Amino acid sequence: METSMAPTFDCLLLTQPQDDVWLITIDRPKALNALNKALLTSLSQAFQWLDALPTTKVILLTGNGDKAFVAGADVVAMQAMTALEARDFSHLGMALMHQIEACSAPVIALVNGYCLGGGCELALSCDYILASENAVFSQPEVSLGITPGFGGTQRLARYIGKGNAMQWILTGDRISAQDALKLTLCHQVLSSSELLKGGLAQAEKIAKNAPQAVRFAKQLIHQGLNLSLHDGCQLETERFALSFTTQDQTEGMAAFAERRPARFSHQ
Ligand code: COA
Repeated sequence: METSMAPTFDCLLLTQPQDDVWLITIDRPKALNALNKALLTSLSQAFQWLDALPTTKVILLTGNGDKAFVAGADVVAMQAMTALEARDFSHLGMALMHQIEACSAPVIALVNGYCLGGGCELALSCDYILASENAVFSQPEVSLGITPGFGGTQRLARYIGKGNAMQWILTGDRISAQDALKLTLCHQVLSSSELLKGGLAQAEKIAKNAPQAVRFAKQLIHQGLNLSLHDGCQLETERFALSFTTQDQTEGMAAFAERRPARFSHQ
């Protein structure tokens, strides 16, 4: 379902396939959806717009076509960059990745085809990843004489462990969807034609739950990863208590007691 209220963003298609579920499709086919400054800015604006909509329950992120999710940061643009320009480019990419992690609604990456370099870093900043059978993951930056610059060395090690991240980043190997599944980088592998359907099925399950509780849970997982276990658990206690101030807690527990489905609001 297209929606007339959505603004337009360069190189992005924004659609609403289900109530309260949004799909961002990266659409820069001539460069296999490679991330240049303009696309990073568009993505940031789109996430900002969706995050400000109180009804957004889930965001799906994918690439147009079945060849590439994102084939990396734009190598053509990077070729001419000075070190200072490269630092600005990295800051722009890093800010987007942090923004996606901090976005209140869950964000699921639907990785279709090449997911390389900055594309892999973009997928890693989403809350989890579903992949098509033809997905190819890689952090090939060292083969281009650079390091990852949008958080790959940090997030990949947290996602799949130090040894796996080392092997992956230092060799620049390409990883199939099935191998990514074994490493728990992605959580489901689907045929290309079923990928969106799989994403929508996940979104539907999430959207049935209490929206504020979902948002709290997302925040807790992200914030806790940067805290000690003790501090993370303390934060969980605070959010757990806070969730008892919501109407959705009253409704969720009443529905359980009355053996009926809950009708959650955003309160
Ligand atoms: N940046 C800029 N342009 C890119 C790109 C990138 N990361 N990846 C692909 N493109 C462009 C190609 O230059 C080509 O443009 P052209 O038609 O104007 O020549 C177009 O996208 C199609 O790519 P092409 O290489 O012809 O397709 P392919 O099927 O032969 O190969 C890849 C696909 C993804 C294997 C190959 O494009 C590739 O290796 N890309 C770079 C990947 C990379 O190193 N990414 C990490 C950057 S940090």
